Amino acid sequence: MGLSKKILVTGGAGFIGSHVVRRFVNNYPQYEIVNLDKLTYAGNLANLTDIEEKPNYRFVKADITNVIEISDLFKNEDFDAVIHLAAESHVDRSISDPTAFVMTNVIGTVNLLNAAREFWKDDYATKRFYHVSTDEVYGALGDTGMFIETTSYDPHSPYSASKASSDHFVRAYHDTYGIDIVISNCSNNYGSHHFPEKLIPLAINNIKNNQPVPVYGKGENVRDWLWVEDHARAIDVIFHEAKAGETYNIGGHNEWKNIDLIHLLCNIMDKKLGREVGTSAKLITFVTDRAGHDLRYAIDSSKLQNKLNWVPSLQFEEGLTKTVEWYLENEEWLNNVTSGNYQTYYNTQYNNI
Ligand code: NAD
Ligand code: DAU
Repeated sequence: MGLSKKILVTGGAGFIGSHVVRRFVNNYPQYEIVNLDKLTYAGNLANLTDIEEKPNYRFVKADITNVIEISDLFKNEDFDAVIHLAAESHVDRSISDPTAFVMTNVIGTVNLLNAAREFWKDDYATKRFYHVSTDEVYGALGDTGMFIETTSYDPHSPYSASKASSDHFVRAYHDTYGIDIVISNCSNNYGSHHFPEKLIPLAINNIKNNQPVPVYGKGENVRDWLWVEDHARAIDVIFHEAKAGETYNIGGHNEWKNIDLIHLLCNIMDKKLGREVGTSAKLITFVTDRAGHDLRYAIDSSKLQNKLNWVPSLQFEEGLTKTVEWYLENEEWLNNVTSGNYQTYYNTQYNNI
């Protein structure tokens, strides 16, 4: 690919997408970044106010499941690359409404691939389709072991099944039509602008408001947490340096049992809110476990570290402290996203605890 490019980022108004858009807009002024997002409940243009006036940034409201919208956009824009993050991303929502996940994550991805196939066909070698995926496609680990890039897929939730399916389609379009694709599978992200239906921002919001902090089952499940800006940096490196057809795992080498993570968070928040140590931990409330709850995820990202020289930059306690500070300083952002429909979702999901 040449020095200046027009890149379509899908899902750029969401949590990770907004960090990717910000990074590319700021670090590559010679690129034109087009952010396509449907603005579902999870999409929020307030995530991008700091860069929305930059000359190399543009927002397009569109739905990746809409064949005509996507086809027209590709016809009119002559993109050099796609970085595809748009998705339904919350496991609990996939349990109550799997079809939305099939529509966006599978059909939406195939629509984008079809547009790339049609409008890039004379020029596949100079184009790139980067698909952002998840470690959840690999299934669940026991007490030991780690996911590597060749671990067999074994998804358990409708969310992970839909992401696995989309990964297969992306690889199939490489193998069948020769489209230049890359895929990365990342572990759990945390950081600013994270929608408070996910564990860490939900717990921060509830602790702040002295509300119960719901922990599924006994809190024994393990996740591998990565600072979202480290994920965006990994996407940048992989986008620019990976060979066509390659897959990279991205992870923090930072495994935490949910209950230990929540205790750490409670301690940080006690300090930040000037509460006596132990006050916030009293809010921990064990609730019914998630159906099909994967026990443990752990990513081996040695390929990325060894081949492309990427390593996570932040220790967890430092990143979590920065995250708490961001939420406490951005009360308006938090209040805006927790009003309206959020309350209905919350009361249904947590049975009014
Ligand atoms: P998110 O839910 O915060 O954001 C998703 C974005 O996609 C939103 O802005 C939403 O409006 C948009 N979107 C949804 N449906 C759309 C549609 N039909 N058309 C256009 N836009 C649509 O998600 P996230 O946590 O930022 O995740 C981004 C991507 O990264 C997803 O593909 C997810 O599977 C993957 N991922 C997430 C994590 C994580 O920890 N959050 C980890 C690994 C991989
Ligand atoms: O592993 C990558 C995945 O991480 C991404 O692909 C997903 O898009 C992202 O949502 C995330 O999925 P998880 O299901 O791991 O994240 P979540 O924050 O929903 O849950 C983290 C852990 O905390 C999980 O074991 C379930 C548990 N949990 C979650 C919530 C919302 C609770 O105990 N209580 C809760 O209220």
